[in-house]
Parts: sequence; structure tokens; C-alpha cells
Amino acid sequence: MRHGRILVIGGAGYVGSHFALYAGNAGLKVTVMDNLSKGHRAALRCTDFFEADLTDRDTLQEHLASNSYDAIFHFAASCLVGESVSDPAQYYQNNVIAAFNMLEAMRSTGHGLLIFSSSCAVYGMPESIPLREDHPKNPISPYGRTKLAIEWMLEDYQRAYGISSASLRYFNAAGCEPDHGLGEDHRPESHLIPNVIRYALGLQNELFIFGDDYPTPDGTCIRDYIHVTDLAEAHIKALASLDKIPLLKLNLGTGSGFSNLQVVQEVSRISGVNLRTSIASRRPGDPPKLVADPGEAFRVLNWRPSRSNLEAIVSEVLQWVSDHPQGYPG
Ligand SMILES: NC(=O)c1ccc[n+]([C@@H]2O[C@H](COP(=O)([O-])OP(=O)(O)OC[C@H]3O[C@@H](n4cnc5c(N)ncnc54)[C@H](O)[C@@H]3O)[C@@H](O)[C@H]2O)c1
Repeated sequence: MRHGRILVIGGAGYVGSHFALYAGNAGLKVTVMDNLSKGHRAALRCTDFFEADLTDRDTLQEHLASNSYDAIFHFAASCLVGESVSDPAQYYQNNVIAAFNMLEAMRSTGHGLLIFSSSCAVYGMPESIPLREDHPKNPISPYGRTKLAIEWMLEDYQRAYGISSASLRYFNAAGCEPDHGLGEDHRPESHLIPNVIRYALGLQNELFIFGDDYPTPDGTCIRDYIHVTDLAEAHIKALASLDKIPLLKLNLGTGSGFSNLQVVQEVSRISGVNLRTSIASRRPGDPPKLVADPGEAFRVLNWRPSRSNLEAIVSEVLQWVSDHPQGYPG
């Protein structure tokens, strides 16, 4: 890397803040841009921060014209699947148009390296498990479609303008860094692990499991949980790989999954609280099983998840939520 300067867009959010911490500890000079619509000032660590909205086309353009970054990491997005169904316009605006603004600003200022947070939502209903990168892409939600649309943009921008990019398709991001005061604080929280833990700690009254009649061993959905710090490491490795492979699309997961009930049982065991769940009807479009084949990422990035252990993840999140029952301040 030339100067070791990177721009992290969406770096006040859950995954972005853990990435910014990791990158800073790896010796990179990190600048975070975020509009704080979902992120938290208190999640910023040792970074330059500027508050700006990616849908405001001129701001990033001006910023990139007067600052030179070795690479841009793009975490900013609207990311609630259900909301994307009821309000797709927000998703096309905040995901696709914002990403287009970013690419245009990069193109006109000579910034040529991008790491993009994509999602396993690009695949839609799995035809085979584990999911490989060459599985058909039939996203079933506007959220997933916006991620796929951006991946297509990145492909075209690489071919035509030489902007190299890695689209990293995360499975379920999980875990946190409680010793650094970093955790997961989405409002509303749609992710299972923090919700089960909030329930165990008496911070919410009910815990719904959506569907117990799926074709899985215990009838509940199975997901592949990947630690945010493992994701962060993969981002740095993906950037290094762009030298040799200018267009990357990789699954980031562990290759194995846990059912919703297994997660609840693990939280019960570690917290010592006997948890009673309420079974609600299935959510439309929830596949029974979403598990990555991460073999290509293992090979190309020379990367292996080292923190993605359910017991450790649950313990960390329990610690963070206990320390921050109301989430981040402010
Ligand atoms: N969390 C997961 O399990 C998961 C799984 C797959 C993919 N992803 C993707 O990873 C990325 C990060 O997810 P997350 O869970 O950290 O989300 P998050 O909501 O915690 O973080 C997103 C951040 O981007 C900021 N942001 C949103 N729109 C912006 C805009 N227009 N301008 C500037 N900043 C803006 C928000 O304020 C927030 O800080 C997203 O792109 C998401 O789609 C996440």
C-alpha cells in the first residue's frame, strides 16, 4: 500500500466499526465517513471522522478530490430485508444510487480500489447447500436485488474504467469486541443472537422463533455465523488480492451452521437462564438453511475464520449487552 490511508464508508455501523478497529490496529490510517443514520458516534475508534451522506453526490466528490486514499471500504447501506419489501425506493436510493455516486466520485478522482459489503441475499432461495459463488443469483428481496445490482455495476466499472473491487458476500455477521467497547446495536435489532441475549437479560419480554416446521433436524432455520473480526481480516486480505485478481466475488462464512434453537440453547447454557421461546409463523422468503461454501475465499485470500465459534460469540455478546443494556449512548 502506498500511504496506508483508507476510507471506511459506514464505519460507525456494526461491521464497519469492527473493521475500522481492526484496520487501525493493523497500522492503517483510517478515515470514517458515515451519516450516523444507523451508526453510532460512540462506536468510532481512533479514527478521523467526517459526517456525510453518500446520497449527497458532491460531498464525497469534493472529499476524494482533496484526499488520496489507497482503498475505499464500503459498508454503508440500508439492510433490513422486510423494510426493503415495504419501501424499496429507500433501498434503491441508499444502496444503488449511493454506490453509483461513490463509483463516479472514485472514477473522477482516480481512486481505483474498492471493497464492498455484499450479502448471501444475492443468491435467493438456495438450490443446493452449501452455497458456492457460482450458484444462480435470484435474490427474492429488494435488499438482495440492490446488492446484486451493485455487484453488476462493479463488474462493469472494472471492465470499462479499471476500478478493481471485491464483493464480499457475508453470511450472518456475529460477535463483537467487548474489550474495546464495540458491539452490535441495530435499532430495530433483527439479528437472532443479540435478541436472544437481550431476552435472557430481561431487556425484552418475548422471543419469537419464526417457524419450527422447516425441513431441518429441529425444524428451525439454520444460519452460518461469521465473526465480525474474521470479516475484518478477510477485507484486508481481499484488498491485498486485488493486485492479482482485479474483480473478486467471494462468500464469507464458516461452512457450517447452527439452527435457531441451537443458538437459544447455547445462550441458555452460557447465561444460566432457562429460555422459553414463542413460535411464530414463518417469515416469507426465509430459506430453511443458508450455509456458505467458503472454499474459494479460503483459497484466494489464504484466510480462515479463527473467531467464529458460537460459544465465544455468545459470551462476547452477552458481555457487551450486559455492559451496554441500552446500547451505545447518544
Ligand atoms: N450484519 C450482517 O449480518 C450483514 C450480512 C450481510 C451483509 N451485510 C452488509 O454489511 C454492511 C454493514 O452491515 P451492518 O450490519 O454493519 O449495518 P449497520 O446499519 O450497522 O451499518 C451501516 C452504516 O452505514 C451508515 N450509512 C447508511 N447509509 C448511509 C449513507 N447514505 N451515507 C453514509 N452512511 C450511511 C449507517 O449510519 C451505519 O453506520 C451493509 O452493507 C450490509 O448490507 C451485513
